[in-house]
Amino acid sequence: MNEKVNPYKPYMATVQEAWYETTGDRCIKTLKVLFDDEEVRENWSHLPGQCTMIGVLGVGESMISISCSPTEGKFLRFSVMRMGKVTQAIHQLEPGDKLTVRGPYGNNFPVEEWKGKRIVTIGGGIGQAPLRPIIEYVKANRSDYEGLTVIYGARTSADLCFKNELKDLRNCDGVSCHLSIDIEEEGWPHYVGFVPSLLMEVNPSPENTIAVTCGPPIMIKFVLQNLKKLNFADEQIYTTLENRMKCGIGKCGRCNVGNLYVCKDGPVFSYATLKNVPEAFA
Ligand SMILES: Cc1cc2nc3c(=O)[nH]c(=O)nc-3n(C[C@H](O)[C@H](O)[C@H](O)COP(=O)(O)OP(=O)(O)OC[C@H]3O[C@@H](n4cnc5c(N)ncnc54)[C@H](O)[C@@H]3O)c2cc1C
Ligand code: FES
Repeated sequence: MNEKVNPYKPYMATVQEAWYETTGDRCIKTLKVLFDDEEVRENWSHLPGQCTMIGVLGVGESMISISCSPTEGKFLRFSVMRMGKVTQAIHQLEPGDKLTVRGPYGNNFPVEEWKGKRIVTIGGGIGQAPLRPIIEYVKANRSDYEGLTVIYGARTSADLCFKNELKDLRNCDGVSCHLSIDIEEEGWPHYVGFVPSLLMEVNPSPENTIAVTCGPPIMIKFVLQNLKKLNFADEQIYTTLENRMKCGIGKCGRCNVGNLYVCKDGPVFSYATLKNVPEAFA
């Protein structure tokens, strides 16, 4: 945890840029924000997989994954799906507007330990948000990793986040990107079908590889089954959980799965830890 930034104190920040990733009722908006206090900005540090409590004054706070890698600069990015009161208020924020940020919370993907390996990310819908920092981290430290395979799907092409960045991934050496949509669309040049089926089509080798997945629980359930069919060991598979949270510090019992607290023990878990906790994928 960061020594100079108090993780329980909300710090004021300002929206620098804001744009919609997707449309519809449950649309996703990305905010790029900067802490107002230069000292906080300089002392802040996070790693892929960590999250923050974002607050809109007078409305409330929501736990949101940090969707950028520290290698991208001294700003933070959040991609937020419009769900209820707080996320609707976050969606109303435009460049120049204020918000509060506290954190970073939770553990991180062990990206340093993974050096030397190939990383396969398998995402669905808004689940790509916590995977994006891994992709950016590996891109920035490309020679430290054997390679990167990105597998990502959504219901329709309009529901895919980070579209332009994903297209650009194809130009990166040793990186491959495989996209899917659930329902056939005219002119769609990529895979049509669910993400677990696309995973089987891509057929990544488990040799010297780490697989990381995030998305709706039903997708994660079948991705895990398919990774086992592809002979990935439990220790080679990671996921991140987004159970509802209140305190964020292991006190209220709101976020527990089995005997694990997602806020304190996670949100990042290896399948070796989660496989004995059936509630995790319920
Ligand atoms: C570790 C973690 C990381 C997260 N990262 C992101 C992220 O990067 N982007 C993002 O858009 N959301 C993320 N979430 C979910 C986000 O926190 C909730 O969607 C948000 O708090 C809802 O608040 P609200 O006031 O808008 O809606 P509420 O009024 O609280 O809820 C609206 C509806 O959403 C449902 N809901 C609320 N929270 C959750 C949840 N955690 N899981 C499933 N359904 C929920 C409620 O049951 C209700 O039906 C994350 C959650 C956690 C715990
Ligand atoms: S959110 Fe309170 S114990 Fe995890």
